Amino acid sequence: MKGIVLAGGSGTRLFPLTLATSKQLLAVYNKPMVYYPISVLMLAGIRDILIISTPSAVPVMRGLLGDGSKLGLNLSYALQDEPRGIAEAFLIGADHIGGDSSALILGDNLFHGSGLRELLRSSRRSLDGCTLFGYPVADPERYGIGEVDSEGMLVSIEEKPRHPRSNNAITGLYLYDEQAVDLARGLAPSARGELEITDLNREYLRQGRAKLVELDRDYTWYDCGTHDSLLTASQYVQYTEKYLGERVGYLEEIALRMGFIDAEACYQLGAGMRESNYGRYLTEIAYALD
Ligand code: TTP
Repeated sequence: MKGIVLAGGSGTRLFPLTLATSKQLLAVYNKPMVYYPISVLMLAGIRDILIISTPSAVPVMRGLLGDGSKLGLNLSYALQDEPRGIAEAFLIGADHIGGDSSALILGDNLFHGSGLRELLRSSRRSLDGCTLFGYPVADPERYGIGEVDSEGMLVSIEEKPRHPRSNNAITGLYLYDEQAVDLARGLAPSARGELEITDLNREYLRQGRAKLVELDRDYTWYDCGTHDSLLTASQYVQYTEKYLGERVGYLEEIALRMGFIDAEACYQLGAGMRESNYGRYLTEIAYALD
C-alpha cells in the first residue's frame, strides 16, 4: 500500500497565519502539523509516502523531512499548484501509486488513540473497495456525513446536510483499492471547480464497496484548519504529553516501534535535537524500547 499526504490548499481560514507560510508547517504544540498525518501512515505500516503540497511549501517540507531515509521511509514530493480538489491527489500521485492500493491523509488531520495501530492494520487487511473513517461531531451540518448499515457499510454520504442522518463526520483518512486512480480520472470537476473526494467515494458507494469505520471517543480527531481547532489540537497534544505521559506524533519513535530504524539511529536523531524536550525524549527511549 502506498501513502499520500495531501498538504496543499490555501489555508484561508487561518489568515493571516498562512499568508506567507503553509498551514501544514505551522506548529501543533511542539512539532510541525505535517508530522501527525505522516505518523498515521507510518502506524499503518506504510513506508512509501508521497507528500503533495504547494510550490512554495514543497522545498521547505523537503528541507524538513528529506528523502525519509533517516526514518526508514521512502518520501517523495509533488506539486499541486492550485487547490483543484482532494481527489486530484490520485492524478498527481498516479505514478507513485503505480497500480497498488493507497492510503490518503489530509495534511491538517490529527488522529490519536491507543488502538490506532491495530485498527489501521485490520482495516488494511480487510480492505475491499474503500474504507473511510467517521468521527462523531456535535455540528454535523459543517461536515461530509456518512450513514452506515449494521455491517458498517456506507449507505449514504451527504455534504453539509441541513438535516443530517447521523453525526458521523467523514475524516481526512481514506483507504482505497487499486481502482482509485482510474476512478479519479473519470471524475468531472464540481460546481466549485474541484475534483471532489466525495464523488470518488460515491463511486465506491455505488459499487457497494465503501466501508465506514466509526471511531469512538477512545480516539481523538482534529482538523487543524481554523484558529480555534489549531489551538485546541495544540492543547490536546500538550496535555497528553505533559500530564498523561503519552507522546503524539514522534516520527522517530514510531519508526523505531515499527522496526523501520534501530535504537542507535533513533538515539542519534534525538541527540541532534537534545536541547529540546522532543530530542531528549528520543534519547531516553531509544534503547529502552529495544
Ligand atoms: P481545506 O481545509 O478544505 O482547504 P484549505 O487547506 O485550502 O483551507 P481553507 O478552507 O482555510 O482555505 O483542505 C483540507 C486539506 O486538504 C488541507 O490539508 C489542504 C488539503 N487540500 C489540498 O492539498 N489541495 C486541495 O485542492 C484541497 C481542496 C485541499
